[in-house]
Amino acid sequence: MNKKDFGDDFLWGVSTAAYQIEGAFNIDGKGLSIWDTFTKKKNKIFNNENGDIACDFYHKFTQDIYLIYQLKIPNFRFSISWSRIFPEGVGTINQKGIDFYNKVIDLCLELGIQPWITLYHWDLPQSLHEKGGWTNREIINWFSEYVACCVKHFGDRVSKWMILNEPMVFTGAGYFLGVHAPGLKGIDHFIAATHHVAMCQAEGGRIIRSLHSNPYIGTTFSYSHLEPYSAENENDQKATKRVDALLNRLFIEPLLGLGYPLKDLPMLDKLEKFMHPNDLNQLAFDMDFVGLQVYTRELVNYSLFVPFVQANIVKASRRFVHHTIMDWEVFPDSIYHAVKRIEKYSNIKDIIITENGAAFDDSVNNDRVADLLRKDYLQKHIKKLLKAKKEGSNIKGYFVWTLMDNFEWAEGFKPRFGLVHLDFKTQKRIIKDSGIWYRDFLT
Ligand code: BGC
Repeated sequence: MNKKDFGDDFLWGVSTAAYQIEGAFNIDGKGLSIWDTFTKKKNKIFNNENGDIACDFYHKFTQDIYLIYQLKIPNFRFSISWSRIFPEGVGTINQKGIDFYNKVIDLCLELGIQPWITLYHWDLPQSLHEKGGWTNREIINWFSEYVACCVKHFGDRVSKWMILNEPMVFTGAGYFLGVHAPGLKGIDHFIAATHHVAMCQAEGGRIIRSLHSNPYIGTTFSYSHLEPYSAENENDQKATKRVDALLNRLFIEPLLGLGYPLKDLPMLDKLEKFMHPNDLNQLAFDMDFVGLQVYTRELVNYSLFVPFVQANIVKASRRFVHHTIMDWEVFPDSIYHAVKRIEKYSNIKDIIITENGAAFDDSVNNDRVADLLRKDYLQKHIKKLLKAKKEGSNIKGYFVWTLMDNFEWAEGFKPRFGLVHLDFKTQKRIIKDSGIWYRDFLT
């Protein structure tokens, strides 16, 4: 396999997110986000760790963007911390926050690296959360103000935009299971948040389209390739269909004008309470691209005891299959299936893999990290992507998750996904063998 097989215009990149790398959580006028407060609560995060400092990208961005340059990665996806721009979520703008992202963007461009902005990667301003956050319909206005501000300040140099990062994950983990910020639980929070997030997903697109002269607009979705635990078992098959509606269809279908997948997941009936008369139309927006974030395959079995979905995910370790330290099965075909499945929707334009990567236990020996497993993971997934491309799929790009080891949400600093190793005590960076492999592949 060769980079050339993908064509000269294929977009190769690397992805990051503000809260996971920036640190400087209360520096230069930044307001708190729900992750700043959630991580300070006892026993929410592995080892009670937090992203106060993380990779200190806020201060070390020059060094880190030079690493991207050194690795010959032409596209850099990062997110903007909403509360760095609007400390209170709306109203007064923090000029130092704008200055910071200006410096990041300018350095990228100077080095020939395309900046790709994700507008929301999970770090809602805490003051908006206190007014209900995603469960309050007002958020459509708050989010609109924030998006317009970003386009106004950065849009002269940035044309690649993603509205949201994995809405299913942040609503599910943050508003239903309570394991991510803001730690809310229960169906009512989840349903309310879902509808407002889906509305913002489309509204964000419309705002960029109206303010920018030549934008390339997308949004990202987590995609899990699902299979019934027992292929022949009818209950497992039906359970898989319900989980699919929840994990893979809930946010993309309203965006495509298909409404919510109510038929296959009756619990979604509750969404109606939050729908205003014209919402069905407002949920739709014609994205230039869809970002898919693919890591694994999940096997689903029927379970009477799990509320709403009556289904369980059977973890990889229980199935004794090769898995990462997230307990995610290594299953390269998942990326192929993801593309094949999503392109079946008739109005999808470009598809970009905006995240794919793996966490393994790395060790440093004489300043070297020989992370063969990660290299192998990336190589095999890229190969499967090529298979889909050769069959005619309209895949335009691939971004590795992630540039450097960082704060992996509820799992803290333990899972290392980076192409670059980070010593969190000394902040020393070492390019791993997988990073060198990616560089060689790209050149
Ligand atoms: C998220 C990242 C996360 C990665 C690995 C994705 O769900 O967008 O923020 O670090 O997966 O868990």
